Amino acid sequence: MAAPRYTFFATCAPGVEPILHQEIAALKFGKVERQVGGVRFEGTMGDAWRANLWLRTAVRVLRREARFAAPSEAALDAGVAEVDWGRFLQPDGTLWVDAQTKDSGLDHSQFIAQRVKDGIVDQVRGADGTRPTVEREGADVRVHVHLFKDRATLSVDTSGESLHKRGWRRAQGRAPLAETLAAAVILMSGWNKKSPLIDPFCGTGTLLVEGGMIAANLAPGLTRKRFGFETWADHNEKAWQRARAEAQAAMAVPTKLRLVGSDLEQNRLNEAAEHLELMGLGKLAQLERGDATAFAPRPGWNATVVANMPYGERIGDDVEALHDRFGARLRELPGYSTSILTGSSRLAGLLRLSRPTRHRLLNGGIDCEVVVASIT
Ligand SMILES: C[S@@+](CC[C@H](N)C(=O)[O-])C[C@H]1O[C@@H](n2cnc3c(N)ncnc32)[C@H](O)[C@@H]1O
Repeated sequence: MAAPRYTFFATCAPGVEPILHQEIAALKFGKVERQVGGVRFEGTMGDAWRANLWLRTAVRVLRREARFAAPSEAALDAGVAEVDWGRFLQPDGTLWVDAQTKDSGLDHSQFIAQRVKDGIVDQVRGADGTRPTVEREGADVRVHVHLFKDRATLSVDTSGESLHKRGWRRAQGRAPLAETLAAAVILMSGWNKKSPLIDPFCGTGTLLVEGGMIAANLAPGLTRKRFGFETWADHNEKAWQRARAEAQAAMAVPTKLRLVGSDLEQNRLNEAAEHLELMGLGKLAQLERGDATAFAPRPGWNATVVANMPYGERIGDDVEALHDRFGARLRELPGYSTSILTGSSRLAGLLRLSRPTRHRLLNGGIDCEVVVASIT
């Protein structure tokens, strides 16, 4: 019997949609469509496992369960009752419901979430009266309700915790970049996975770890503790373990790649070293304490320089002068490519890179820019 097919929506940070679209297209799923805030696709649960294991820039993968008109509470209740929630949730399980609403009669997201939660809990109640309990962190099942112009979409979250939590981070450093955004910055650069990858502001090493994982074809989901679908009532553990083993077999850590990092603070470098080591990338790493504006890689390396520059009040240095000096340093490196994440168009402009491509994205709610350029 053919495996059932579903509609999925992979969410991402605003601005990352084109990169996520490329990643999903490469996985060869059906009916891939870029939308605001994510990418829709169709596939089986096996495809959802692969999406969770392999997508580097997705934050969650949601599986659509129902779509219906919900102009009133009664219509919402009826739509919720149509779904067989017992496929996901046991009477002694835990549940969390998130809701968003826009341009709809039901305009209170907390009320909607509560109402949907009540409907699910009532349906899943056991013969002895046991009912699922509500739990925000680590719930067995997370449900998303999206209301737009009185149409409701009910989805179950196949990912569980946000996919930026790969499982390797031990230290937060000063302002760690989300792993999903680090992957986006690297994928935007068009890095060939062979030339040295340099992060002169490496902090806890997020960009170097994500770059190393890309080069090693290491699925970012392999190191996660668990995914949402693993606690669903109808989960097929044997088939899932086969999918994991396939991803594991695809990994090949390169021996010649250089992952080069520097930072002003020795503690950050120690953290970066720990993270790279944990991911089996320690042998590729060259970490050295120093000022990014004075970093001196070998000419002819034709390396890719990636960075998440200090730009916010959280760091507070003279960030404008820093951008000006760092840009001057980069312009002295013909043959190099860069992909630099910074806080605003103004700061991005201070780098004065020639003919850059600029990508706007939201980093933790802050408008940022990624400047991609080749140095000639
Ligand atoms: C925004 S954080 C980068 C965070 C990093 N991407 C991570 O995920 O941990 C900026 C880093 O640049 C370092 N830094 C600030 N000024 C620097 C400079 N002039 N040279 C080198 N590193 C610098 C800080 O110590 C900090 O770790």
